[in-house]
Amino acid sequence: MRVSEAVKSRRSMRVFKPDPVAKADIEWIITTANRAASNGNLQPWKLYVTMNAARRRLSAAILQAMDKGDTGPGAEYDVYPKQFKPVYDQRRKLVGKQLYTLLGVPRGDTVGMQKQFRKNYEFFDAPVGLLLCVERGMGNGQWIDCGIFLDQLMLLAREKGLHTCPQAAFSRFQHVVRRELGVHDDQVVICGLALGHADPDAVPNSLITERAPIEDFVRWHEE
Ligand SMILES: Cc1cc2nc3c(=O)[nH]c(=O)nc-3n(C[C@H](O)[C@H](O)[C@H](O)COP(=O)(O)O)c2cc1C
Repeated sequence: MRVSEAVKSRRSMRVFKPDPVAKADIEWIITTANRAASNGNLQPWKLYVTMNAARRRLSAAILQAMDKGDTGPGAEYDVYPKQFKPVYDQRRKLVGKQLYTLLGVPRGDTVGMQKQFRKNYEFFDAPVGLLLCVERGMGNGQWIDCGIFLDQLMLLAREKGLHTCPQAAFSRFQHVVRRELGVHDDQVVICGLALGHADPDAVPNSLITERAPIEDFVRWHEE
């Protein structure tokens, strides 16, 4: 697979088939992604792999906490900017509208939206759930490194015919993730990553999100 094919075919999938993923493939994806660049070669990423019963246990524990109203301290970092400029607000709302239209959840249907949101914590039924963490003392630079590592995981998954969905939703329940996976106190839970075989016939998986033209964010200096 060409790099561009991996990039173009990657998109966030939100309906997975139960088909298992070979541990050897997960290991290959992680080992290869581990070649990611990082400033000073710090390699600051920490990864927790959950599969089979362990994956289901984590999901059950989070959903149980959710049902009990045990929201804990919440995400430890700003998952979104504190204030949205209109352009970003529009983008976020557009993708939400497109996704919920495909899901058949009408605007204002809070029950339907909540039901969909819960699916995050089941990794959208993917058999493998990864959790990406970084030590709390790390700076913005190391968070960039973790982002690069995350992207490499997503692209390499494509080469194995697998799909992914990055999920900041897990940072909200970091207290449960911590408890279930033994994540040390000195680590911040950045996000989850669903990994598995996407259901090609599932309508929500047909969402191709929009991108702004490069003229909107590129400034050329040629002479
Ligand atoms: C760091 C990060 C966190 C995300 N968190 C979630 C999430 O919690 N739930 C979800 O359904 N999608 C999540 N997404 C997926 C984004 O909505 C998606 O990447 C964006 O809409 C662009 O669509 P695409 O990935 O299909 O190209 C996340 C993406 C990133 C990069």
